[in-house]
Amino acid sequence: MVRHLLKISDLTKAEIEKIIDKSIELKNNPQKFTSALEGETLLMIFEKPSLRTRISFEVGMQQLGGHAIFYSIKDAPLGRKENIQDTAKAASRYISLMAARLYKRHDMWDLAKYSDVPVINMLDDFAHPCQMMGDFLTIKEKIGRLERFKMSYFGDAHNNVTYDLMRICAMFGLELDVACPAGKEYTPEQIVLDEVAQISEGTGAYINILHDAYNAARDSDIVYTDSWMSYGIPVEQEEERRKIFTPFQVNSQLMETAKPDAIFMNCLPAKRGYEQTAEVIDGPKSFVFDQAENRLYSQKAIMLFLRDKF
Ligand code: CP
Ligand code: NVA
Repeated sequence: MVRHLLKISDLTKAEIEKIIDKSIELKNNPQKFTSALEGETLLMIFEKPSLRTRISFEVGMQQLGGHAIFYSIKDAPLGRKENIQDTAKAASRYISLMAARLYKRHDMWDLAKYSDVPVINMLDDFAHPCQMMGDFLTIKEKIGRLERFKMSYFGDAHNNVTYDLMRICAMFGLELDVACPAGKEYTPEQIVLDEVAQISEGTGAYINILHDAYNAARDSDIVYTDSWMSYGIPVEQEEERRKIFTPFQVNSQLMETAKPDAIFMNCLPAKRGYEQTAEVIDGPKSFVFDQAENRLYSQKAIMLFLRDKF
């Protein structure tokens, strides 16, 4: 059966650790892997915009000796003249890996269902597993371990990145406080809460949803936030969302509530004065560009993993 990576919990904890170790090897010794995917092609289908994901996948594939095709959904008959099933089946005949950034999780799942090659989710409305792999590599580098730390997340929790953060923290038996406004459009979906509760039962993780930023920040080793205006949210909602999310902004005062050596993370893109202040994101505790850089190594490792190369 073809393996796909549609959400972080499609991997086991042991597999995540193995991929992180391979990412470190790829980072330290890129020369060893210059022909690891020679002659192979990655198709990248984009429905939403991207800077980091597109560039890091394209560069990563090139560094592994393969080739990446950028394919904008605007050019595709997908969903209009042709259904996803036929798109997946036809594209699979030319390539060895497919990656997609789509708005809807059901489209992503259909693509994977009918693809004969591994599909990597580059972001939909349910998950961002590639971000998690880069982030946990960054945490391993900065904190030195992937256990016994507390993370807190602030802002929009009805959100792809938050969902995968909850899943991965549950898998690793960690404590994660998610601080968000009340209301179903800002809090995680029940299906995610259920999955996370089930994982946590086996690992002893403590994943908590709360509506007070300062309670969440207390004792945190890592403070994480994501955009208040995720791709696809209409610009007309910006003003209202800014008001609603402002109590969850990561600013210096909130950072001071966390542990003295706490680090700040954001998957990017970020807007200064919104989900965090400039002082925080441009300050010494911020490792957002290490997160961005590490996407490259972790995605190279993901591609090698899905192609059975280690
Ligand atoms: N973090 C992330 O996925 O960035 P892009 O949207 O620029 O790809
Ligand atoms: N939640 C953000 C993540 C961007 C990488 C979005 O969906 O736009």
